[in-house]
Amino acid sequence: MKFRLFLSFLLLSTSAFAQLAEGVSENLATDESPVANSEIAIIPEPVSISKQAGHFILPSNITIQVGKSPELKQTVAFLQERLGTATGYYVTTTNTPTATATIRLILNDKTDAYIGQEGYHVSVTTKQVTVRANQPAGLFYGVQTLLQLLPKEIESKEAVKGIKWSAPCVEITDFPRLAWRGLMFDVARHFFTKQEVKQYIDAMVRYKYNILHLHLADDEGWRIEIKGLPKLTEVGAWNVKKVGPFGDFIPPKPDEPRNYGGFYTQEDIKELIAYAKARFVDIMPEIDVPGHSLAVIASYPELSCTPEAVNYKVRSGEKIMDWSRGAPPIALVDNTLCPANEKVYVFLDTVFSQIAKLFPFDYIHVGGDEVSHTFWEKNDQIKELMKREGLKTIPEVQSYFERRIEKIINAKGKKFMAWDEVLEGGVSQTAAVMSWRSMKYGTEAAKAGHEVVMSPKDYAYIDYMQADAVMEPKIYASLRLGKTYEFDPVPEGVNPIYIKGAQANLWTEQIYNMRHAEYMTWPRGFAIAESVWSPKEKKNWSNFLSRTEQHFKRLDIAETKYAPSVYDPIFSVKRSADRNLLITLATEVEGLDIYYSFDNSFPDRFYPKYTAPLAPPVDAKMLKVITYRGKEPIGRMTNMPIEELEKRAGKR
Ligand code: ACM
Repeated sequence: MKFRLFLSFLLLSTSAFAQLAEGVSENLATDESPVANSEIAIIPEPVSISKQAGHFILPSNITIQVGKSPELKQTVAFLQERLGTATGYYVTTTNTPTATATIRLILNDKTDAYIGQEGYHVSVTTKQVTVRANQPAGLFYGVQTLLQLLPKEIESKEAVKGIKWSAPCVEITDFPRLAWRGLMFDVARHFFTKQEVKQYIDAMVRYKYNILHLHLADDEGWRIEIKGLPKLTEVGAWNVKKVGPFGDFIPPKPDEPRNYGGFYTQEDIKELIAYAKARFVDIMPEIDVPGHSLAVIASYPELSCTPEAVNYKVRSGEKIMDWSRGAPPIALVDNTLCPANEKVYVFLDTVFSQIAKLFPFDYIHVGGDEVSHTFWEKNDQIKELMKREGLKTIPEVQSYFERRIEKIINAKGKKFMAWDEVLEGGVSQTAAVMSWRSMKYGTEAAKAGHEVVMSPKDYAYIDYMQADAVMEPKIYASLRLGKTYEFDPVPEGVNPIYIKGAQANLWTEQIYNMRHAEYMTWPRGFAIAESVWSPKEKKNWSNFLSRTEQHFKRLDIAETKYAPSVYDPIFSVKRSADRNLLITLATEVEGLDIYYSFDNSFPDRFYPKYTAPLAPPVDAKMLKVITYRGKEPIGRMTNMPIEELEKRAGKR
């Protein structure tokens, strides 16, 4: 069974690449560059768009014609709901072919090899819209494209009056570059409700993502009911509510209430899986072990090698690791499961048994990242294990653990996936690797024949800051939209069949609510969607930016938050020959004007316009900057302390 799956993955990937090569040459014949046309602004950019004359106008009585296949029911219901809600029109569906159908969703009788399993054709003529695909997923993606061809008000959650509901006539042929197009949502650091997870799924499917990786366990919380292990959710799901810059909080007092958090019951999980499946999204569960396990240990201290664990509590954002020496960190508390304790494997067998039954997805992610060596190095049980098993290093101890976990996972009929650190002590050939520290680890893993999902922090960590640190909630690193857009998940020199795909990761240490989760995801989620879906050759930054701006208007109407950081100024600073500051301002978006002040008042377009590097006046304490497009302010007012620039420029 597993061999068959792997074989079909190989076949699929090779045919996707053959299609891609063909698609590109065909594209060049029909459209020289991505369509830079505000009327057609599709994200991710399709394989080919051929614009025709005229428009299709939605009638106020819409009929959707669709085949009888039960797998199409959800897609039709989705389209019916979206069209009906925003237009207020009457939308009916029919299974009988009718010449007067407004929109036809057709599953091909004969497979069109060019578009593959997930591809589609959309044809908009003045009379009718037709979406064709080989498989139901393709029709769903075609429907997403169709919705993006309609006016932005189609995103409204209530009927909008006075709109001419028209779509430009067009022929679109499209299919994804990669099979794994994921977003990771960390629901452990802060808990997000079932409704919020559905909201996240609703947003991701607009951009043809198909995998939601749920990070379900970490030091700050255990988020899934496991029958027979009640303390995981009675104790492990709760900590003390704190706000501010997470990571260095004052440790909670013993009597502070532990009532912040939550978990999903198994019924909740089933509901989420069904909701995602109806939208062609698979949910991959992650239980992060053996590190990041304080919530487990607070619940069941006997799973630790460290006797003091009986006093451990679920982390509430206080410091538990010292990263000053780099990775691996120095642990201040032992947040690891004990690899020398047989009870740990019994525990994980119970957990993964239930997880394997709940989640239909082929892979279970078991974490394996950032395991501190601090406590293992000095522990007698670990020393004994090393002697018994002939393990020479701590990474080999982790490797011993991972191999045992993989056996458990495989015994449940699932495949093992873990973060790239598991490569260090050696990992079995069948382990799939999620590469986060850089492209390098994924590249090495693919060369060694592992399946790889690329999610390197340098391109795909969407918890990082999007604009200057003076503007954004503080995180230790930055990742601008432009850099995200450079992401190419398939490195040169690697056999692409090993790169299953890629994903962006939304860690939520500093993300306390859903609005901020959305802010961090969009528009970088657009860029990643384009990296995993669109032909590499069609990527074009300035065209992408103009489409991104169209989609900002769509998200406004959908009431989904996004970061406008791309309009904010980029500061660079150096010292001139006389050792004074020389400040350069720029923007990611071309064609904006930058106005500034050093006198503490708020600049607008009647203030000095930036044209050349600035030397601050000797007494100035603050540089205030705002960007405009023509007469309209577009960026946020940015306050940059001169003291901060002095620091960045280094010694005088
Ligand atoms: C990770 O960011 N520690 C996977």
